[in-house]
Amino acid sequence: MKVLVIGGGGREHALAWRLSKSPQVTKLYAAPGSDAIALLATCVPIKGSDIESLTDFAEKEGIDLTMVGPEDPLALGVVDAFKARGLKIVGPTALAAQLEGSKAFAKDLMQKYAIPTAKFETCTTPEGALAAVGRVGLPVVVKADGLAAGKGVLICHTEQEARDAIAAIMTERAFGAAGERVVVEEMLMGEEASFIALTDGKTVLPMASSQDHKRVFENDEGLNTGGMGAYSPAPVVDDEMHKRIMNEVMIPTIEAMAAEGCPFSGVLYAGVMIASDGVPKVLEFNCRFGDPETQPIMARLTSDFAELLMATAEGRLQDVEAQWDPRPAVCVVMASGGYPASYEKNLPISGIESADAMDDVVVFHAGTRRGERGWESSGGRVLGVTALGDTIETTLARCYEAVGLIDWKDVHYRKDIAKRALGRM
Ligand code: AMP
Ligand code: GLY
Repeated sequence: MKVLVIGGGGREHALAWRLSKSPQVTKLYAAPGSDAIALLATCVPIKGSDIESLTDFAEKEGIDLTMVGPEDPLALGVVDAFKARGLKIVGPTALAAQLEGSKAFAKDLMQKYAIPTAKFETCTTPEGALAAVGRVGLPVVVKADGLAAGKGVLICHTEQEARDAIAAIMTERAFGAAGERVVVEEMLMGEEASFIALTDGKTVLPMASSQDHKRVFENDEGLNTGGMGAYSPAPVVDDEMHKRIMNEVMIPTIEAMAAEGCPFSGVLYAGVMIASDGVPKVLEFNCRFGDPETQPIMARLTSDFAELLMATAEGRLQDVEAQWDPRPAVCVVMASGGYPASYEKNLPISGIESADAMDDVVVFHAGTRRGERGWESSGGRVLGVTALGDTIETTLARCYEAVGLIDWKDVHYRKDIAKRALGRM
């Protein structure tokens, strides 16, 4: 089977790494991929936004199955274009991808079908949004409606912060057209988990649970980032919680999308907040794998991933099962100093090979390139050092030992990844 992965970040490195181990995969491609992915796959220089060239390439090359990593190609209709030419692909159509692409769409759907979520109002003017802040009550969360690379969510504790957030999103258009509308939402308290599943529109096949760390500094301080580390499983998602999320969120969402005339297939990711009373509420939906959650999830998957993805694309998920390594996995993201604000690039990185050579350790590359001097940094999130171990303690020790072997100027990483999981063991 010839497989194409669209994307080139840490998530796609992990997806390609797992696919490269599938006995069914005879040839693996990535578009555009990265220098690290090029060690596992043939990289073709086509951007994820160039839907026409991607489709032409897949047709010409006889690609049997395509897996989409990031959200942008989905919103641009890559799945529609592939399906129109009879090419198999994992992901939702552009219409169904609104579940991530428009927070207002997702909130309206949840309200209509009684899927638990924070109370909210959708607003089209700054004045309307400010009035909504008064009704929803402080603290409040102001969200740009459209795609904003995970940055369009502002948590406001005072009315002034809410005013500033509304001005930034709607007036200054800090996130461009994504700020034409805002969702003003009640702030939820509790513990977050990422619940990610494959679905063919009928069956929901959950991946192992995971937990992300969004804030840049220890103890969840500082700005929100794309994610500074993750672990799997998430102990907060015990068997009972797993059942609740499946029955109250995942299955009703698939049914709701079908009832709305935009059946959803591909990857459904519910970011849930589990309050102290044990009620899971949806913070957001994504229609792709999480980054960095995918890194520990792929480290634990023991089934043939290509088979699971093909079953998703062919609508026969009810016939397959996913098997997991029972051991926990942890991913620590090593980032450029200054991230998520501005940072230096092209800095030489040492120690990647030694870390990679450790047992049960894989170094996934999110933002590197291969220069004359070896590996260099080329992005904000640079590496996702991922380890497996018998217990969360040994996994963490191994992961941070690997992290300790790697160095570059101004490197930054959180030293408290999975501390919460440790507290629950
Ligand atoms: P989203 O892109 O909607 O997932 O938001 C990004 C992050 O903002 C989430 O992972 C949460 O940490 C936080 N967040 C979003 N909505 C809420 C909410 N209603 N209450 C508390 N935190 C939230
Ligand atoms: N790690 C959060 C996300 O992928 O959206």
